[in-house]
Amino acid sequence: MEKTEFIFLLLATCFHLTTLFPIPSKAEDTITPPQFITGNQTLISPSQNFELGFFTPKNSTYTYLGIWYKQIHIKNIVWVANRDKPLLDHNGTLTFNNDGKLIILNYGGSVLWASNSSGPAKTPVAQLLDTGNFVLKNFEDENSEEILWQSFDYPSNTLLPGMKLGRNFKTGLNIHLTSWKNIDNPSSGEYSYSVDPRGLPQLFLQKGKKKIFRSGPWYVEQYKGDPVLRENPIFKPVFVFDSDEVYYSFETKDDIVSRFVLSESGLIQHFTWNDHRSNWFSEFNVQGDRCDDYGICGAYGTCNIKNSPICKCLNGFEPRNMHDWKMLDWSSGCVRENSKVCRNGDVFKKFIGMKLPDSVEFHVNYSINIDQCEVECSKNCSCVAYAKLDINASGNGCIAWFGDLFDIREDSVNEQDFFVRVSASELAKETGIRLSVDTSKSEFELPFFEIAIIEAATRNFSFYNKIGEGGFGPVYKGQLPSGQEIAVKRLSENSGQGLQEFKNEVIFISQLQHRNLVKLLGCCIQGEDKMLVYEYMPNRSLDSLLFDETKRSALSWQKRLDIIDGIARGLVYLHRDSRLRIIHRDLKASNVLLDGEMNPKISDFGMARMFGGDQTEEKTKRVVGTYGYMPPEYAMDGHFSFKSDVYSFGVLLLELLSGKKNRGFFHPDHKLNLLGHAWKLWNEGKVIELMDPLLEDQVSTPESILKCIQIGLLCVQQHPEERPTMSSVVLMLDGESVLLPKPRRPGLYSERCFLETDSSSRGMLNSGSNDITVTTTVVEGRYLGSG
Ligand SMILES: *[C@@H]1O[C@H](CO)[C@@H](O)[C@H](O)[C@H]1NC(C)=O
Ligand SMILES: *[C@@H]1O[C@H](CO)[C@@H](O)[C@H](O)[C@H]1NC(C)=O
Ligand SMILES: *[C@@H]1O[C@H](CO)[C@@H](O)[C@H](O)[C@H]1NC(C)=O
Ligand SMILES: *[C@@H]1O[C@H](CO)[C@@H](O)[C@H](O)[C@H]1NC(C)=O
Ligand SMILES: *[C@@H]1O[C@H](CO)[C@@H](O)[C@H](O)[C@H]1NC(C)=O
Ligand SMILES: *[C@@H]1O[C@H](CO)[C@@H](O)[C@H](O)[C@H]1NC(C)=O
Ligand SMILES: *[C@@H]1O[C@H](CO)[C@@H](O)[C@H](O)[C@H]1NC(C)=O
Ligand SMILES: *[C@@H]1O[C@H](CO)[C@@H](O)[C@H](O)[C@H]1NC(C)=O
Ligand SMILES: *[C@@H]1O[C@H](CO)[C@@H](O)[C@H](O)[C@H]1NC(C)=O
Repeated sequence: MEKTEFIFLLLATCFHLTTLFPIPSKAEDTITPPQFITGNQTLISPSQNFELGFFTPKNSTYTYLGIWYKQIHIKNIVWVANRDKPLLDHNGTLTFNNDGKLIILNYGGSVLWASNSSGPAKTPVAQLLDTGNFVLKNFEDENSEEILWQSFDYPSNTLLPGMKLGRNFKTGLNIHLTSWKNIDNPSSGEYSYSVDPRGLPQLFLQKGKKKIFRSGPWYVEQYKGDPVLRENPIFKPVFVFDSDEVYYSFETKDDIVSRFVLSESGLIQHFTWNDHRSNWFSEFNVQGDRCDDYGICGAYGTCNIKNSPICKCLNGFEPRNMHDWKMLDWSSGCVRENSKVCRNGDVFKKFIGMKLPDSVEFHVNYSINIDQCEVECSKNCSCVAYAKLDINASGNGCIAWFGDLFDIREDSVNEQDFFVRVSASELAKETGIRLSVDTSKSEFELPFFEIAIIEAATRNFSFYNKIGEGGFGPVYKGQLPSGQEIAVKRLSENSGQGLQEFKNEVIFISQLQHRNLVKLLGCCIQGEDKMLVYEYMPNRSLDSLLFDETKRSALSWQKRLDIIDGIARGLVYLHRDSRLRIIHRDLKASNVLLDGEMNPKISDFGMARMFGGDQTEEKTKRVVGTYGYMPPEYAMDGHFSFKSDVYSFGVLLLELLSGKKNRGFFHPDHKLNLLGHAWKLWNEGKVIELMDPLLEDQVSTPESILKCIQIGLLCVQQHPEERPTMSSVVLMLDGESVLLPKPRRPGLYSERCFLETDSSSRGMLNSGSNDITVTTTVVEGRYLGSG
């Protein structure tokens, strides 16, 4: 059964102590000297819940003293006294020695086992309680509650309700479960389940000395790292952590009979008694899936059961041994991509929704908050990471790890965040670091660059480093000390509109990661001065090549296909696969940047909008976009949807194939724009004439370019519902022999119908573009459509 899916229906059929155990007969529940128990004599707890006596496992000749459920016909042994010192025959005796300790004698009178009482007792009395606890007290003082010894302090493989699993700091007692050797042999097996010996409030399952499962630390009211140990309709977990002791325990609800058992094979199972079936029902195992195997992904590796493969490195880390990783052996773990931590100005990168890691060394301070925690961790170079560790819901608590981080998993049930140290030079690659932009502190996270680093990188924003200029502000090229080239977009102080777009860009792009999206490396804020830092794109923007008569030859047919494919994939990610589901709203050639290998990267998210799960369309009064790329429903009515981006993509596709701009297209024979021209050629059956003449020798078959043109025409169809989704576009582009539908009339195919009014311009990352993004206010019926 899946870990989180308890079948609570069973509750109705669960076994209730009160209803099943009748009020007792006159069976004994206590012994006092000189009484003894031997042979088949037993003690029975007052309400007949439990029974204590000698037993011989089914396939065994040895005899043990144990406790089992009195009313359940299956003899489930919940406790064994002399598990590692069995009686070789059936002739054992439980009695007291002169110190008042409980002892087990064999036939020859030798002591096989003795209770580890805290002191001698003159008038000892041992009682089997209804909880299943066998308790030794001194009866000298009737009011004395002092327990000299109790079986609950020395569990075998079973945790009963009310029993503690933990440590007593005063007595040094380590109350833990130990598995049986095998099903017929209660002697101590290989597995143990205990509270972290280092004092961290988390549970460990070990095989010998090897850790094989970890619950993750207790947090406020639960083990965050292990959802099945949380409160549920069957039981409520109890956790106590103070200067005397730390322990985990559980209470059942409605007297349901339930227990945890550490099995011979190392499974921690939870059972409830099912009255109707007269059997135990195993509701869940504490270990859920492979990601619960301790440290399966190695150092700095993180496990997500929904991924394939399940392991990956934390962002900013890479496999130590790629070969091992390819063989799906992740145990070698990960190392920093850039090992230069602790040089200048390290920052902490936030990881969200994780099971907190484990490490050989950690420091815990329950009285400081998360901000002080960061300060403390940043003081010592060896401090690798830190997180909030709030045990008591006090709001405070800090854990800082020293040494490699292990056993991290990410998925929706783990709700904790932690922060990992990364170097300033590594910043260049990182996203997601704590930073406050404006006052909205925890709204989003992004690497932060010191202004000094930006100044040095851009030679104090030197004129020679300037690569672009727009309404938003100038763009500079720079170089970080690590050698990485960057582009710095500087927001003009007086650009009111720019500020909103700056925030938009920071919020969206810092949360997106795809090879076809430009990467925001971080930002820098110095007073009013706000800057965005991107990876530098050596080949600038697509329009600077595509619409330049001499440079266009650098764009071969194959490169254009690759660029089309890359842009399409970037859009699929934005529309469908990213967490946010984003409409770009300003896709155009000047917003597609090209890296050193001519890979396209979509840039400029200043206009982007996030769409909710089911939302498909929205309306705005403030139309922003670029003439020539805006679909009719948007330009005229302010309606935008994922299909608006599809339209812009279609325009871009036709521009790439023809080498001509849609807007500003000129043909001596008509007044149509590029779309109109393409549609005209299509209807005349000579759409091949649209092809950029530079490609003539490169296109292997006319079919390949005809297919692309057809896809382009499908994307720019007048009605949004007629246009394909970006996912279908990718399928069409990749498919060898996909049967494409016939395109219908495109929207806005006569540019000149389109009024241009009231526009304000913005600059892009590129330079010298004429494709100005405009903002207009839609007034109903103001524009004439092409239709
Ligand atoms: C206990 O054992 C004796 C013989 O050793 C037997 O006579 C008796 O029936 C047994 N009692 C029970 C309850 O099994
Ligand atoms: C009993 O134990 C023996 C040896 O330990 C084993 O070979 C046999 O299979 C066991 N029988 C049962 C029924 O478990
Ligand atoms: C157990 O004790 C009885 C006498 O009470 C004796 O007859 C029997 O042989 C003993 N069994 C063993 C295995 O010693
Ligand atoms: C008995 O108790 C003492 C302290 O209470 C402890 O140090 C010792 O390990 C215990 N022995 C056993 C066998 O549990
Ligand atoms: C939790 O709260 C209890 C009672 O308020 C206190 O005694 C204990 O020290 C606290 N534990 C931690 C770890 O703060
Ligand atoms: C916790 O941190 C505070 C502030 O740094 C310090 O004064 C205190 O001694 C620390 N407590 C422990 C237990 O380390
Ligand atoms: C930093 O932490 C490590 C590990 O706890 C410790 O050994 C070292 O002394 C600390 N260094 C400083 C400067 O406090
Ligand atoms: C940048 O300007 C500051 C003064 O504003 C100056 O101290 C620094 O040397 C300049 N750096 C460079 C690289 O020109
Ligand atoms: C793209 O950039 C790379 C690296 O700077 C350069 O070698 C190449 O010539 C550029 N290509 C074009 C078409 O400009």
